[in-house]
Amino acid sequence: MAYRAVEIIASKRDGRTLSGDEIRWLIAGFTDGSVPDYQMAAFAMAVFWRGMVPDETAALLDAMERSGDVVRWPNLAWPTADKHSTGGVGDKVSIPLAPAVAACGVAVPMISGRGLGHTGGTLDKLESIPGFNVHLDLAAFDQMVRQIGVSLIGQTDRLVPADKKLYALRDVTATVESIPLITASILSKKLAEGVGALVMDVKVGSGAFMKDRTSALALARSLVDAGTAAGRKVTAFLTAMDRPLGTHIGNALEIAESIEILHGRGPTDTRELTVRLGGEMLRLCGVATTLAAGESAIAAALDDGRALAKFRALVAAQGGDPHVCDAPHDVLPQAPLVTPLLAWQDGIVQRMDAWDIGVAAVHLGAGRNTAADAVDPAVGFVLAKKPGDRARAGEPLVYVHARTEAQTRAALTELRGAIALGAEAPTLLPLWLDVVTA
Ligand code: URA
Repeated sequence: MAYRAVEIIASKRDGRTLSGDEIRWLIAGFTDGSVPDYQMAAFAMAVFWRGMVPDETAALLDAMERSGDVVRWPNLAWPTADKHSTGGVGDKVSIPLAPAVAACGVAVPMISGRGLGHTGGTLDKLESIPGFNVHLDLAAFDQMVRQIGVSLIGQTDRLVPADKKLYALRDVTATVESIPLITASILSKKLAEGVGALVMDVKVGSGAFMKDRTSALALARSLVDAGTAAGRKVTAFLTAMDRPLGTHIGNALEIAESIEILHGRGPTDTRELTVRLGGEMLRLCGVATTLAAGESAIAAALDDGRALAKFRALVAAQGGDPHVCDAPHDVLPQAPLVTPLLAWQDGIVQRMDAWDIGVAAVHLGAGRNTAADAVDPAVGFVLAKKPGDRARAGEPLVYVHARTEAQTRAALTELRGAIALGAEAPTLLPLWLDVVTA
């Protein structure tokens, strides 16, 4: 059946519910170019204001998932699962989590993104390992998942092309912040990987896409409902992003922290997220009977070297130097200048604002402002204190890893504004705010 785009736009503008056929026709036309950008932009704005009922979101998700190649896993020996974070500062959890989950008998075919704005991206972090190739084609991706149970690659041009075009349009038409559009965008890429289970980490706080708990809960509910309607097992956790996660921010620095986690060490918050999100992936796949059992299995894989062995195999299979697992500082690029920001008074660290620190990291060169920008793999920050810690005047709070003196000075000034020291204990978001299940 042929429709007219203008009538579909008008229906949504006037608050009517669209049929699945109308939505599928529109997305197919947008993908092949017969529906022009200006009509799709008008449609996105109509959805922004009017929203979508769950059936419409499900149809949009289905149409987007099938707009290009889809990956499927017939005859794979293991169940499949993936994890997605809505993004934050210092969030490197995918890197230790994927091999840890694979070491516990669930395959993780992970297609990740790059950093944009103040948040980092898994691909940029992995590319800081010399030789690591994130551009495997789907045949090589398939082979690697079948051989070692895990692969981490970037999106290909043929995977979910509708999202690539629509996201670019939303970005310049002020229509990113729409829950149905975000739901279809995030899930279409994950469902096209063909996984049976998905754990979503919806971040909350200044450094997150969703700044408050109410909007994060609404997104989490929409993600769980749409993913479940698409026949997948989905859980969404709401976790804190009012301060950075872990201690290392910046591409190579976050690989170094990930390797610490894979050695059974590392900051408590990064480990806790790895263990719980990974544990839930095992539970959703039936490999663990309870979340606690899943968490114990992941913790054991981190502590006994199985997760690290899987990461070593992953790095080697994707062309990286596996010696990074043993001596990350010999292998990863290092910034020439490391300068501490010293505490300017005695006090308790009350605030280390995730947004401000993320923006300072972008200015330092660790992130990008536009998709075409290059990132500097070596630069970033290492937190010597975290919110709630006590500092004496003159003690280091943060180490700035920079290329030049000018960059260092600018970063120290920005960090000074992002951090507060005071007499009272801080009011922080709990690391775990909520969980949404089907
Ligand atoms: N991330 C995505 O992939 N899509 C959105 O719409 C928002 C965040």
